[in-house]
Amino acid sequence: MQGKRVLLGITGGIAAYKVAFLIRLLKKSGAEVKCIMTSASSDFISPLVVSTLSGNPVGIEFWNKKDGTWNNHVEYGLWADVFVIAPLTANTLSKMAVGSCDNLLLATYLSMKSSTIVAPAMDLDMYAHPTTSRNLTQLEEDGVVLIPAESGELASGLDGTGRMAEPENIFVKIEEFFKENQDPKIAGKHVLITAGPTYEALDPVRFIGNHSSGKMGYAIAEKFLAEGARVTLVSGPTKLSLDHHPNLSMISISSAQEMLEVVQLNWNSCDYGVFAAAVADYRPADVADQKIKKSSEEMTLKLVKNPDVLLWAGSNKTNQVVVGFALETNDLESNAQKKLSKKNLNFIVMNTLQDEGAGFAHDTNKISILDDRNNMVSFELKTKNEVASDIVAYLKKYI
Ligand code: CTP
Repeated sequence: MQGKRVLLGITGGIAAYKVAFLIRLLKKSGAEVKCIMTSASSDFISPLVVSTLSGNPVGIEFWNKKDGTWNNHVEYGLWADVFVIAPLTANTLSKMAVGSCDNLLLATYLSMKSSTIVAPAMDLDMYAHPTTSRNLTQLEEDGVVLIPAESGELASGLDGTGRMAEPENIFVKIEEFFKENQDPKIAGKHVLITAGPTYEALDPVRFIGNHSSGKMGYAIAEKFLAEGARVTLVSGPTKLSLDHHPNLSMISISSAQEMLEVVQLNWNSCDYGVFAAAVADYRPADVADQKIKKSSEEMTLKLVKNPDVLLWAGSNKTNQVVVGFALETNDLESNAQKKLSKKNLNFIVMNTLQDEGAGFAHDTNKISILDDRNNMVSFELKTKNEVASDIVAYLKKYI
């Protein structure tokens, strides 16, 4: 479960206290956990416990009155790899079945990009009621994964079916869900990704570089990891970091030449290469051993061409799928088309600085993809995480 993002929805039933154990199991397995609670559930388990165990703030209301921030249900929906609602009360079940949206948890359910798993819990007569059966059937028809209630002693003192599945059983179901939903086109594959800028040294303290933040390449790496790929991330200097992941090999480089060497070392074992780095095209011809002192009024720098890492990868392609990027200011499509064929790419992700919100420093990007079969698709302005999902989805379709 390493790196998986589990969003846990907690509703107001006595079984809510057991969620503490589920959170611990998830955290121990390496999953990231965020929780949303209905206000009724805080009668059964303290938000402080939930927040402490999950390591994240808990969302209860749309609006945090204390600090004036709001909990964005759309962001929760985008963040999660799965939404698990446990316990699911009869009340929330009925609202989900008809699409009601009167709290944060329900709005998030309606905004979910990935699947929802529910573990109902209620008294035996409530669970056996035809309305409950009808609502559960409706949820299953809507694609929700149901973990049926278990039999045993109930909070009412009665014995029967209605107990929430034990946390260990819910955990196993979540694991199974992730295994079943892994795409063999991505899971277990080796992906090499370049990201960030390169710095080309002038002297021990100065360099030629660019404003690339590395966000796009890192988002792509996270997406591949979440889908079970083995990722080698070759990164230029950035302020970003990725959490430790057993399938991640992170290699920090500084210059284009260093990036090329790492790519060359790893290329043979790769299935896919995604070249999102903003590599400096030129580097100083001479690198001074000592700090360059100012002397004359003018200074002329001689630059020499850097190796083109992507061109090397495309030219040395055996069975790899090679994805390049093109950042253009004009004639986007024809320039990208030229790069696609010159560098022997399978597809190229194009963006232009002319689109508002697209490019280096932003959290959003607006891309089009052009492939070597003459297909072109344009996407809306999206977060870089969503763009990463679009690129991985395109790759799956392409293969
Ligand atoms: N790239 C690379 N090594 C380089 C230069 C670019 O790997 N030395 C990769 C980038 O990671 C990106 C693509 O090539 O995937 C960009 O293509 P490129 O032709 O280099 O774009 P520009 O540098 O913008 O070229 P130009 O200035 O000619 O438009």
